[in-house]
Amino acid sequence: MYLVNNDANHDPFALGFENSTGSEADVVIPALEQLMLRHLSKGAHILDIGCLDGEIVKHLNIRGYQTTGLDVSEQFLHIARKKAPDSKFILCDIRKFESPPTYDAVYSKNVFSFFLNLEELTTVFRNVYMAMHDNGLFVFTMQAADCTLLDGPPDSSFSGKVNHIPSYPSVEDKFVYIERHTNDNREERIREIKMTSFTLINGIWKRTDTTLVEKHYFISEIKSVLENVGFIEINVYDSRDFGDTTAFSQPCFVCRKPSLSQ
Ligand SMILES: C[S@@+](CC[C@H](N)C(=O)[O-])C[C@H]1O[C@@H](n2cnc3c(N)ncnc32)[C@H](O)[C@@H]1O
Repeated sequence: MYLVNNDANHDPFALGFENSTGSEADVVIPALEQLMLRHLSKGAHILDIGCLDGEIVKHLNIRGYQTTGLDVSEQFLHIARKKAPDSKFILCDIRKFESPPTYDAVYSKNVFSFFLNLEELTTVFRNVYMAMHDNGLFVFTMQAADCTLLDGPPDSSFSGKVNHIPSYPSVEDKFVYIERHTNDNREERIREIKMTSFTLINGIWKRTDTTLVEKHYFISEIKSVLENVGFIEINVYDSRDFGDTTAFSQPCFVCRKPSLSQ
């Protein structure tokens, strides 16, 4: 019943990011230094898929890379353009993205779990592959059902109780955000993320509710999609190795598009 296209609409939540100082780059950039940047020459072109408010492309620009941020949310790209004026931006659903080989590296965090079947995931990885130069690096994190790399129990979000307890409350002067996770559909490894925000506009609080649906694939499923598309040298790391302090870490995939001579 859930396995339909999931149009993950993040637009209503953009306002909360407008004035955020964001510490995301403090964790992501050092990880990218180790996994990606040290293999690239200065001026290399990096694509960030699901770039949100442009925080990461901004920091990559500062380090001398050309950057393009891609996102399906117009509201977030509006913020990103202001935050990272030296970056290019593309408003597009990655499932429909068509580009000739342009990028030396592609990065994405927390986006690919929104694609609810393996056919969609294959389309997305193929679109990435086509957009990359030979020898390009593809680095991404996404949720996985079997975090076998972790010391703890496999993906705790599917190990037991349904969790309706609000997580991720965020309270600012003009914006309040609450997220709840429901894991009723454990067999299918489907998780619902219920997001509620309140925004103060002209003295009146406006409430917005959105539900996103995520599929947690097994690491082996993700690796086999990457292989089928043509990626090579696939390695999987634990995001906690790179300073991720969230309760449930994610696998971080690093792979390469082969060169013609390989
Ligand atoms: C959970 S957020 C992650 C943002 C950021 N990468 C991070 O880790 O903080 C997901 C982002 O992906 C974007 N997104 C969701 N579905 C998308 C799609 N089909 N194509 C392009 N962007 C998408 C959303 O608009 C949002 O900015």
